[in-house]
Amino acid sequence: MCGIVGYIGGRTAWPIIVKGLQRLEYRGYDSAGVAVLNEGDLKLRKCRGKVSDLVQMVKGQDLSGAVGIGHTRWATHGEPNDVNAHPHVSMNGKFVVVHNGIIENYREIKAHLIEKGYTFKSQTDTEVFANFVESLYLSEKLTAEQAVKAALRRIIGAYGLGIICVDEPNALFAARKGSPLAIGLAEGEYFLASDATPIVEYTDQLIYLEDEQVAVLTRNGYNISNFNDDHVDPVITHVDFDVDNVDKGCYEHYMLKEIHEQPQSIADTMRGRVNPENHTINLGGIADAMPRLASARRIIVVACGTSFHAGLVGEYLFEQYARVPVEVEYASEFRYRNPIINDDDVIVAISQSGETADTLAAIRMAHERGALVLGVCNVVGSSIARETDSGIYTHAGPEIGVASTKAFTSQVVVLAMMAFAVGRRRGVLDEATYASLIDGLSNVPSLISQVLDSAAQIREVARAYQLAQNAIYLGRGYLYPVALEGALKLKEISYVHAEGYPAAEMKHGPIALIDNCMPVFVLATHDKFYDKIVNNIQEVKARKGQVIAIVTKGDSEISKMADYVIEIPVCQEALLPLVAVVPLQLISYYVAVMRGCNVDQPRNLAKSVTVE
Ligand code: G6P
Repeated sequence: MCGIVGYIGGRTAWPIIVKGLQRLEYRGYDSAGVAVLNEGDLKLRKCRGKVSDLVQMVKGQDLSGAVGIGHTRWATHGEPNDVNAHPHVSMNGKFVVVHNGIIENYREIKAHLIEKGYTFKSQTDTEVFANFVESLYLSEKLTAEQAVKAALRRIIGAYGLGIICVDEPNALFAARKGSPLAIGLAEGEYFLASDATPIVEYTDQLIYLEDEQVAVLTRNGYNISNFNDDHVDPVITHVDFDVDNVDKGCYEHYMLKEIHEQPQSIADTMRGRVNPENHTINLGGIADAMPRLASARRIIVVACGTSFHAGLVGEYLFEQYARVPVEVEYASEFRYRNPIINDDDVIVAISQSGETADTLAAIRMAHERGALVLGVCNVVGSSIARETDSGIYTHAGPEIGVASTKAFTSQVVVLAMMAFAVGRRRGVLDEATYASLIDGLSNVPSLISQVLDSAAQIREVARAYQLAQNAIYLGRGYLYPVALEGALKLKEISYVHAEGYPAAEMKHGPIALIDNCMPVFVLATHDKFYDKIVNNIQEVKARKGQVIAIVTKGDSEISKMADYVIEIPVCQEALLPLVAVVPLQLISYYVAVMRGCNVDQPRNLAKSVTVE
């Protein structure tokens, strides 16, 4: 939700900030803006639309200045337009602010400022903050840092802020409460960003700002303190990050690149953890928590979006292989119920970004009630990763496409490793079954490569349904969550209305929708539900629906009834979600491209949802 970039040093800030914003566009792309300061002379450019629109708008202009801040927006307060775009400047032109998050008490502060004669150009809470800092700075004769802290002590909400003051051109201020901010440290220069991706090409030394901390960055050094002015010694993290990972390489879109990366990303998730030679699973990140996890009376998974679907697969895995009851909860619902959490429950929070506001709030509540909280995150050093008691990183590499693909499969791999390891420890899994599951997991990257080899055929299936207005996805057992995920992918990037359903539930409602225009994607592999799924396909065909079946290689029965079949290789039932989801990811991708949609930046969505 909104991306922030800042720079102070000896170089021209503008191109560094613009490039950084392009890397953060997955966080929001409603509007973009940059402010640079050259010895007290402020240049501010902003517009509705993408960073490329901003670049186009300023072509040929002199935007020199070695300190600056920039923003790419996902609108919360005020529609996406030029005026509401960040940065926002205070009324007397003293402070310039970029902001990610929500200031909850902005109305009350705004009313107070209006009484003092302040006027506002935009509908944003950010402009209120800029004016609030300025009013304190001017009326109480504070330094810029003191004014920023005085304002922060009085605002309520979640925020990551980048601030410059025209009277103090050798300083860049940053503050965090709830929304992530990373600071890159280099010789005589500092970088600020919502995550590491804009920074890693300049330095591998990072500080992740903690909640209620303020950073003051100057060309001569930096200082980090809390809102009450106590100095803080920050932890400097060394990031090992290949900058090529954040480029598209030879692919037209990040999403396509990330779908194709899955054999590698899954291998990375298992690296050092799954040993197929001696048939062991070693989960160092949760080693200390293992006794409590293995004796848990119940596991509660909390997550949102695609991560929730991975959690549903985890439910099947844990219940079958570890015999631990599992509940999977939307974090946004869980946090506002009054859930019963016992001290022998274990919470597992799943989040690609590690920043999703609802998931973060859910784990805070669970902590308060004494539960052990484990994290399954992709972004190293993210808020959820830091606030959980321990956890397992998915190590899928940066996922830039807004629609999650490789993060999903890596999350499922982590849950499978956990379920198998817990099952073995609890004595539920015998040695031979455990060994065969480990062999199966190790083989998944090669099975996915085989599916990817048939991408051209999958594209032709997508071509046949590119104009569909609706779609239904059906699956059972392990493949029911995959049906939900397939439908979500199509909705997100193609704007086609799609519903995922447990196949047997079709006759309780969705069957009424079936006619000769309705494509029905059926996950119909060789598993214990095969005969039942064949019946479901016949029910659809009897009503003239179009059936696209995902079948096991060599299946000869379903091809006689389905309009199209897509074959996937033979795979153990528990690991089928990892393989069967890939053709559905590709279908959505190709349909979106054929419909002319912006695959990597679908309308209204953002990759990292740091507001409620
Ligand atoms: C957003 C993204 C989804 C993601 C969901 C949860 O909606 O667009 O792709 O699945 O947030 O995000 P998380 O980072 O917590 O997995």
